[in-house]
Amino acid sequence: MTSQNYVVWKDAFSVGSDAIDSQHQGMFGLLNDLYSALQEGRSQKDISEIVGKAHQYAKQHFASEEALWAKSGCPGLEEHKAVHQAYTGQVEQLWRSSGQPLEDTAYELFFFLKDWWLSHITGMDAQYAASVRTMPSH
Ligand SMILES: [Fe+2]
Ligand SMILES: [Fe+2]
Repeated sequence: MTSQNYVVWKDAFSVGSDAIDSQHQGMFGLLNDLYSALQEGRSQKDISEIVGKAHQYAKQHFASEEALWAKSGCPGLEEHKAVHQAYTGQVEQLWRSSGQPLEDTAYELFFFLKDWWLSHITGMDAQYAASVRTMPSH
């Protein structure tokens, strides 16, 4: 059943910050746009556009998450930033090395993105957000 591939938001994904949660939800929206475009057999141009949009959105989200958390002075932000950076590099490499047909690469990329975002949000983001909340200044 293909609908299982859509990324569905659950309350359990909340990291306890409305700003961050809504950005994560925005990312889910773009991932679902990508999946729909693939399912509908849309043109390579359309698919590339969505991938580009999702990539920009991710970079903006990382910058905003890092800026928000930098204020807390909570340790571990450098490691978190390194994970964001590794993601950016991996996505760019995957997309650059895209062979033909592009659709196969786009599906591979979609599944990579879906797994990465689900595990990052419920893992590292959730843990870091919880540490920030327990900092003395919060
Ligand atoms: Fe995040
Ligand atoms: Fe993060």
